[in-house]
Amino acid sequence: MRVLLTGALGKVGRATSEALLAAGHKVTGVDVARPTFDRPLPGQARYQQADVTDAGDAYALVRGHDAVVHAAAIPEPTQNPPHTVFHNNLMSTFNLLEAAVRWGVPRFVNISSETVPGFFFPERADLPDYVPVDEEHPVRPQDPYALSKSFGEQLMDAAVRRSDIRCISIRPSWVQTPDNYERNLGPLIRDPSETTAGLWAYIDVEDLADAIVLSVQSDLPGHEVFYIASPDNAGGRDLAAAVREHYGDNIEIRDLVRRDASSISCAKAERLLGYRPSRSWRDHLDGNGRRRPP
Ligand SMILES: NC(=O)c1ccc[n+]([C@@H]2O[C@H](COP(=O)([O-])OP(=O)(O)OC[C@H]3O[C@@H](n4cnc5c(N)ncnc54)[C@H](O)[C@@H]3O)[C@@H](O)[C@H]2O)c1
Repeated sequence: MRVLLTGALGKVGRATSEALLAAGHKVTGVDVARPTFDRPLPGQARYQQADVTDAGDAYALVRGHDAVVHAAAIPEPTQNPPHTVFHNNLMSTFNLLEAAVRWGVPRFVNISSETVPGFFFPERADLPDYVPVDEEHPVRPQDPYALSKSFGEQLMDAAVRRSDIRCISIRPSWVQTPDNYERNLGPLIRDPSETTAGLWAYIDVEDLADAIVLSVQSDLPGHEVFYIASPDNAGGRDLAAAVREHYGDNIEIRDLVRRDASSISCAKAERLLGYRPSRSWRDHLDGNGRRRPP
């Protein structure tokens, strides 16, 4: 398939580009950085510089592709003014999806976020109703990032209502790469009292890239939303005990498939996409949260 991948130079985009190429797809990578005028390396993705908040850029890029993977975004709300986050994330999704509908592109993979339910960046305290969180959890975003992602999912709902496009929204957990595992998860592994808004959930970037490839290749009709997380939690905590210790009875604990389970359930992705994660923080870090030698 000819796949247009936005955010191609970001954490998720780089791994996804490699996974798509390895699966035999042709990739056009899009990002805001200037191209270089060197000979492309063998097997390298084609690169296009564009700002996809510009509708003209989006229309020019989308044409001729069999699928769009939209991973370009400002990936959290705290380091840009709120309207910048909201405008960049929502208008990029709107423009690319609008172009995909008008050009008759059959598949759109929308990289959404685990933050959609609202308890990651709330101004007023909020917690998940239950763990493991799944796609049935109520959605009550407060911040501009979660709102932009929540509205992005609604754009997908509208697109499948008015056209034959098939949409998948992926809600990745906190993305870990070989370069940032130690920085991000090391402190959680060293100190059992450390908590995160995502209750120690994370996703290995290569497992996430595999889930995105499965989404590109999927025949699922309509618009489906999937959480994608690694099956264990950072530090290998007894999840039920940790939730009780830190949150008392404020979070309901539902069935857990393993003692060190993630606080996010990927059962739906396993069932409908064939998602089979195979990586863990343990591949990268030792019991003290320090990087394992290569
Ligand atoms: N990093 C995480 O933990 C995490 C978790 C959940 C969801 N996500 C989502 O995954 C996707 C990828 O995130 P990431 O971690 O790779 O972020 P990143 O910042 O590493 O990469 C995002 C890329 O998108 C590009 N981009 C942003 N706006 C653009 C625009 N208007 N036009 C063209 N390119 C643009 C940036 O230049 C950057 O290279 C995003 O949609 C993000 O919201 C990330």
